[in-house]
Order: sequence, then structure tokens, then C-alpha cells
Amino acid sequence: MTRDKVKNTITDKNAIEISGLKKSFDGGKDFVLNGVELNIPKSKITMIIGFSGTGKSVLMKHMLGLMKPTSGLIKVLGTDLSQMSERKLMKFRMKLGVMFQYSALFDDMTAIENAMFPLIEHRKDLTHDEVYSIASEKMKQSGLEPKHFDKLPSQMSGGMRKRAALARALALDPEIMLYDEPTTGLDPILTEMVDDLIYSTHYSRSGKTSVVVSHDLHAAFRIGDYVIMLNNGGVLMDGKPEDFISSKDPLVRKFVDTGIRKKDV
Ligand SMILES: Nc1ncnc2c1ncn2[C@@H]1O[C@H](COP(=O)(O)OP(=O)(O)OP(=O)(O)O)[C@@H](O)[C@H]1O
Ligand SMILES: [Mg+2]
Repeated sequence: MTRDKVKNTITDKNAIEISGLKKSFDGGKDFVLNGVELNIPKSKITMIIGFSGTGKSVLMKHMLGLMKPTSGLIKVLGTDLSQMSERKLMKFRMKLGVMFQYSALFDDMTAIENAMFPLIEHRKDLTHDEVYSIASEKMKQSGLEPKHFDKLPSQMSGGMRKRAALARALALDPEIMLYDEPTTGLDPILTEMVDDLIYSTHYSRSGKTSVVVSHDLHAAFRIGDYVIMLNNGGVLMDGKPEDFISSKDPLVRKFVDTGIRKKDV
């Protein structure tokens, strides 16, 4: 892959293109993903929704190159990850920032050390002071004040841990930010805070792409530009939030009505 080719593909309208993606964990008896076709538009917030166990996290791991497909194409920023060697993937992942459900901070590192970690690993050209300065800027961007920088994850609140995880994910200025269930298990106030943080982070990073895997329909409709619903190993529906609200598909209705009802009680 030449440099120019990468540059060209980055200006394409899709950040991620997936076609014919199949994934089986049992040698082909059962397919968790069974022919997924989807495009994730560049510079937008795309929400991936669906009932529990439909393969949302498995799909996200394919987008990160953390899982290899049984078959199919996964093009991220124009490059097919399914054929990439582990060494190339490591380098490629610098373009992708990820925030997992339980923040997944390193327990023995302070907040700022967590945010410095990707820079120390991947930016050997930077001095320690430069790494600290970039990490502290990302911490502030994520809403963590300097007085919290030296706290260990065990000394932080749930909201602070989310912010530190976000700062770490943003450290390398990724082209694409991926969030897997960023608000599952949080109380309503923290849920709204994290949704707002995803939204403000997206709009402070002009031209970058966000992908959010979520159970939370309310968030999907509030912050998503584009929504993709997975079901039964494939894409059941994709479109704008309003397309989902007006959909007559019984499964979409079931998901939408249940999600909205839950939020209202
Ligand atoms: N490493 C693995 N080995 C075997 N099966 C797996 C593996 N990872 C996921 N699965 C299976 O794939 C299916 C989809 O799992 P996945 O975690 O992607 O669901 P999900 O849509 O993210 O669900 P949730 O909304 O509960 O997070 C499940 O049946 C799960 O057991
Ligand atoms: Mg999941």
C-alpha cells in the first residue's frame, strides 16, 4: 500500500466498509456474523444497536483488527484489515481510538500515566515532557482537572475513569473513535454525561469519525447521525434516527418501543 493510496482513501466518504463479513467460532457450524454489509460514513457519529448477543462487540473487534473474519472484507480507511499481518495491524491501530465498556484502565498507573501510555509506546520521537504535555491536554479536553491527574483508577469515581479512558483513547489523535457500550451499567446522570462527552469530543475533532456500540436507544437517537441495527447475523436496518422511529418492521418496532418505554419510566 503506497502512501498516496492511503491519503486518497482517507478522503473517501466512508471511514469503514464491510462486505460479506462472516464469523464463526466453531468451525462453521454456527455464524455469529453471517454476511454483514455496512458502511460507516466519515466524519459522522454512527450508532450500532441491536439486542444483546447479536454480535455488536464481535463486529467492533473486527473493525479494530482484534478478530479475524471467517470470510469477508473489512476496509478501514481504505485498507483491508482481514489480510493484514499482526505487525502492520499494530501500527494501523494508531489510527483507531477505543473506549471499552468498563474503561479498562491500567490499575497500577495514575490517570495521566494511562493517557501517556499510547504516546510512550508509539511516539518514540517525543521527549517525556512533550508526552506529558500532550497527555495533559487530552485529559483537559476530556474534562479531567490537573488535581486528578495523579489518582489511581481505584481512587477515581466512575465518571473520572471514563474521562481518563477517553483521554487515553484520544492520545494519538485517532481518525476513528470506537466506543463499546460506553454507558452500560451507569446511572442516568453519568449516562448523560458520557453521551455528552462523546458528542462534544466528536465535534471538537473536525472531520474525525465516531462509532458507538450501544444498547441505549435514547442515546442512539440523541447523538447519532446514522444508526445501524444488527440482528440475526446481519444488518436489519440502517438509516437516520427518524427512519427508525417511523419504521414498520416488527423487530425494529420491538427494539424502538422497548427502548423508549424503558427511558420514560
Ligand atoms: N471469543 C468468542 N468465542 C466464542 N464465542 C464468542 C466469542 N466472542 C463472542 N462470542 C459469541 O458471539 C455472540 C455475540 O457476542 P457479542 O459479545 O458480540 O454480542 P453483543 O451484541 O455485543 O451483546 P451485548 O449487547 O450483550 O454486549 C455471542 O453468542 C457470544 O457468545
Ligand atoms: Mg457487546
